[in-house]
Amino acid sequence: MQQLILPVLLVSFLTTCTRAGDWCYQSQFACDHQCNAPGNWNHAHSDCEGRNQSPINVVTRKTLKDERLTPFKFDNYQQIFRATIKNNGHSVQVGVPNLSTISDGGLPGGYKAVQFHLHWGNNGGPGSEHTIDGEQYPMELHIVHMKQHYTDLTTALSDPEGVAVLGFFYERSTSANRKYEPIIKALQNIKAANGNTSLNSISLAQLIPPEKNLTTYYRYKGSLTTPGCTEAVIWTLFENPIPLSVEQLRAFSELKFQNGKQMVGTFRPVQPLNGRQVFRSGGAAILASSALLVAAIAMAFALSPVD
Ligand SMILES: *[C@@H]1O[C@H](CO)[C@@H](O)[C@H](O)[C@H]1NC(C)=O
Ligand SMILES: *[C@@H]1O[C@H](CO)[C@@H](O)[C@H](O)[C@H]1NC(C)=O
Ligand SMILES: *[C@@H]1O[C@H](CO)[C@@H](O)[C@H](O)[C@H]1NC(C)=O
Ligand SMILES: [Zn+2]
Repeated sequence: MQQLILPVLLVSFLTTCTRAGDWCYQSQFACDHQCNAPGNWNHAHSDCEGRNQSPINVVTRKTLKDERLTPFKFDNYQQIFRATIKNNGHSVQVGVPNLSTISDGGLPGGYKAVQFHLHWGNNGGPGSEHTIDGEQYPMELHIVHMKQHYTDLTTALSDPEGVAVLGFFYERSTSANRKYEPIIKALQNIKAANGNTSLNSISLAQLIPPEKNLTTYYRYKGSLTTPGCTEAVIWTLFENPIPLSVEQLRAFSELKFQNGKQMVGTFRPVQPLNGRQVFRSGGAAILASSALLVAAIAMAFALSPVD
């Protein structure tokens, strides 16, 4: 009799806690907050169980170098614009006027920037969506673009190559990144879900590393990392991270979800590759090859005659 009670309790606990609700991150899920955590996103959005989902872990030694992955051409990325920054209950998001565009970089044409948003951990802890050789960075920036001739993201998402997302990782640095101060300051005003405030002058270029540092990147085909999880995204992950101080990273953890809880852990777990190939740009340094080089040099020394 005793032995039966625990399983019965467990089953009833699981059924009460997995009742359908709005989608949420694992960090938000609690018995008193019933929502669809990432493992259940497919309940309301069947694409979330597709075979080409994002994010993924990039295993660098299994990437394939592709000479067509040339440097990007960034147009109007320097353009200063005025925008609204919003706590949308899942992230912070900034709408971008349609004047900044990207082309080349192995893309099938030009894409215009639509919005950017971020994914982060708890007070600067692991929080990126993509991982590189298992390493999870403290934060990840997604600049979402759509093919130039589309006028809205919904239409672009019905094209399997309609959307191109540029993903950038962050790393902790000892000094604050001054170019991020407008955003960090604005966070103070949008702690509550659905809060918004204006960013008076910002450019996409100020948020990302200099162009010369953007020639090494990974490329694969995947999906949106939030429901509907639509498989219409050409992903680019830049190797060179953006430096932010721990204080700057922590500022994101002061935001709140809809239920008033700390907005942390806003990332989807990595998804199976299902046979997809990840490519790397011509310039992408690969750790394995430098290890091989070291081994080759050591070998040469070992083989050289000693007398
Ligand atoms: C930007 O949007 C405006 C109106 O929404 C449109 O007239 C213009 O052609 C668009 N520009 C680009 C580069 O897509
Ligand atoms: C910003 O918030 C105000 C209410 O506080 C709302 O009227 C407005 O539509 C919001 N703007 C955006 C872009 O979400
Ligand atoms: C650009 O790359 C160089 C060499 O890897 C690095 O030293 C420098 O810090 C990078 N600059 C930025 C802003 O990321
Ligand atoms: Zn994202």
